[in-house]
Amino acid sequence: MSARINPSILSADFVNFERDFNSISNADLIHVDVMDNHFVPNLTFGLPMVARMQQITPKPLDIHLMIESPDRWAPGYAEAGAFSVTFHAEAAESPVKLARTLRSIGARAGLAIKPGTAIDSYLEVLAEFDQILVMTVEPGFGGQSLIEDTLSKVAAVRRKVDAEKLDVWLQVDGGIDETNIERVANLGADTFVAGSAVFKAEDRQAQIDNLRSLAASGIAHRH
Ligand code: DX5
Ligand code: ZN
Repeated sequence: MSARINPSILSADFVNFERDFNSISNADLIHVDVMDNHFVPNLTFGLPMVARMQQITPKPLDIHLMIESPDRWAPGYAEAGAFSVTFHAEAAESPVKLARTLRSIGARAGLAIKPGTAIDSYLEVLAEFDQILVMTVEPGFGGQSLIEDTLSKVAAVRRKVDAEKLDVWLQVDGGIDETNIERVANLGADTFVAGSAVFKAEDRQAQIDNLRSLAASGIAHRH
């Protein structure tokens, strides 16, 4: 299993996306945080911006929708050609139905859960998704510290995915950096969002390589 590093462009320069995308050209996917100022107390951008990003980079986009009513809005991102569309369990009316719709359009379907949301009821429907995103901070802002309590959910999802041999990526998002990525990988994550840890680095590409090799080491040493 390989480790994927998805830089979050929430920490990029919002009027220089093209330049900043070029500065992370060794990333696996580009993590795009869509916020609506309702589901989270912050606002970024919506579909027209994401559709334009799709045109200026060959990288697959990993869309993280922090919005209300994803049942209504998420399919548009899949139709725009996004590689992966992740919506929040807390906001969706019918998560499984929405995942099926996203897949039928041709995108990977992801389910995100906030730090305070239990994973248990979703473990039974993991196969309906291509990715589970365990938020390791409260969604809304970059640069926060990882909440340790969320890591037991990472371990629980990993146990289930391995036991049932599912092809589901396990993503973590929030406070991931070079001090903790190896440990979080060891607990079960394989897909890592990193905003400030990548964008504040002097050499972003070297930092991406560094994070990926630390994560690979954590994966290799799983029991
Ligand atoms: C937070 C976003 C994250 C954010 C992570 O709500 O979902 O993707 O950019 O930023 P860092 O890595 O700085 O915690
Ligand atoms: Zn995110």
